[in-house]
Amino acid sequence: MIDLMTIYSLFKPGLRLATVASFIPRGAVVADIGTDHAYLPLYLVTKKSCPRVVAVEKSQNNCENARNIICFYNQAHKIEARCADGLKALQERDGVEVIVIAGLGGKTICQLLMAAGNSLDRYRRLVLQPMGDASLLRRWLLSRGYAIIKEKLCQERKRFYEVIVAEKGSMKFTDPFILELGPALVSGSDPLLIPWLEHKINRYDEILQNLKISASKGNEGKRQFLQIRLKKLKDVLRDVSQRE
Ligand SMILES: C[S@@+](CC[C@H](N)C(=O)[O-])C[C@H]1O[C@@H](n2cnc3c(N)ncnc32)[C@H](O)[C@@H]1O
Repeated sequence: MIDLMTIYSLFKPGLRLATVASFIPRGAVVADIGTDHAYLPLYLVTKKSCPRVVAVEKSQNNCENARNIICFYNQAHKIEARCADGLKALQERDGVEVIVIAGLGGKTICQLLMAAGNSLDRYRRLVLQPMGDASLLRRWLLSRGYAIIKEKLCQERKRFYEVIVAEKGSMKFTDPFILELGPALVSGSDPLLIPWLEHKINRYDEILQNLKISASKGNEGKRQFLQIRLKKLKDVLRDVSQRE
């Protein structure tokens, strides 16, 4: 049982969750999959006029904490915490319009969406914030007939996060490498785009430097692969910088 002082000090949705929330239309019925502490549902019902949020959480303990926090803020009439596995917790009669999955790995998000099967088509919008493997997630969305309509970067405690907004539709682009970075990000004017690309380039440089130190024949393929990607990243950075 979580104590009330802990609950009180906990509810401070950071920039990451506020960015996720910015893509949820006012008044939408939402399901937050992997809600943990239910900060996002609380934010949505108190600040974005969402009439109802289904907060889904697999861990019994986290779900219990979420219920306590929801009750503490007197929002149990608007937020229902369900202890269940992913989108399987939802039924058509819930009337959910927007699915949010934030703070889980890109691969896990793909698995959760896949497990929903055809029922995924019920939802108007997916707002996804992967903690890695974003390119895998973009590829999966593309293969499943989704268009990435918006993307946004945010930075919290020096770490970059990508928020992906998808709706049914089609996407066209010439270079599949763009899925690594996000088509909407690369063509847009996100203020964090250049720092994020520079951060990625530094990471690639570091990895290549380490591979050079531990030079072995087995690394050659990996080195070449990374060098091609590094060059593509630098090309994108140059194009984006020239646009500014
Ligand atoms: C790192 S937390 C993210 C919490 C919150 N969404 C955020 O962005 O701050 C991930 C949460 O997802 C829950 N989770 C993982 N797999 C799940 C699943 N299949 N169904 C529901 N919840 C799940 C975990 O128990 C954990 O509480």
